[in-house]
Amino acid sequence: MDGTLQVKTTAHPETDALTVDALEGLSQPQKTLSPKWLYDHTGSALFERITQLPEYYPTRTEAGILRDNATALAGLVPNGGALVELGSGASVKTRTLLDAGAHFGAYVPIDISRDFLFETAEDLARRYSALTITPVVADFTGPVALPPTLAQTPKVGFFPGSTIGNLVPERAQALLAGARNWDGIEAFILGADMVKDTHDLIAAYDDAQGVTAQFISNILVRLNREAGADFDLSAFAYRASWDPELARIDMALVSLRDQSVTLAGEVFAFHDQEPIHVSAARKYTPQSLALLAHAAGWEVATRHRDADDRFSVVVLAPRD
Ligand code: AVJ
Repeated sequence: MDGTLQVKTTAHPETDALTVDALEGLSQPQKTLSPKWLYDHTGSALFERITQLPEYYPTRTEAGILRDNATALAGLVPNGGALVELGSGASVKTRTLLDAGAHFGAYVPIDISRDFLFETAEDLARRYSALTITPVVADFTGPVALPPTLAQTPKVGFFPGSTIGNLVPERAQALLAGARNWDGIEAFILGADMVKDTHDLIAAYDDAQGVTAQFISNILVRLNREAGADFDLSAFAYRASWDPELARIDMALVSLRDQSVTLAGEVFAFHDQEPIHVSAARKYTPQSLALLAHAAGWEVATRHRDADDRFSVVVLAPRD
């Protein structure tokens, strides 16, 4: 060794960002890991399984609302206008709107997962040959720049899945305020899960088959593989809890004993029962949704909901 610090570089900027993020999160007095790292290949597949679970009602409930109101929702997009989706994933729910939107000019799927995004965009281009598909690789938790070619095109935003609920309130507001400033924005379609019976909420995030536990624990598997960590998976347990003050489900991995874990050369001490907070899923009331919208420059024009009022798809209109 010549005394200079050897900085290990990799060809995987994603992995470096994961390591940096994990080092920071685990250094906090209340240890955290960001839910955006849940969605590697395994995590995405596990989330797909979650959406099929009997306890996990949001996906199928929202899909039903979208189907029941497809004509009205697609009708928000003017002729030749664009539908812009944040966190589009496999764009499964979107198809309900695209099927009812023969008059759409463009679809702009925005996602952080590049390969998946482009694969999906190609598949959609084949299915909807009249539609211009303009994928954008971006992390919607930060500012999103839309394709300049669409600056003059009227637009409707689409953010389904109650993913808004995974953002801290300030970020949720910033996201909606950001979309309010897109050139040509006319409306925003937002999926939001509603406050309901605590047992139903907890069950949705702590299913009997343990798929959610596996999904959340996968972040440790990932850190072991990609960030050189040595988490002992049998020494952490998944826990979901409801916080009535903040109206949110908290998902955490709890240390089952005093232990230390090494990640990228740093040692982190855990005491027995200490949690790592991984994700929060905020739930809304019609009032809290209206407040959020208002603070971001919108108003709730319509609230579409299922018969049991478990989930809402709200149409936001710009307020002046
Ligand atoms: C797709 C992010 C909205 O919070 O309900 C499901 C993710 N995490 N079960 C949600 C999730 C655990 C899901 N979102």
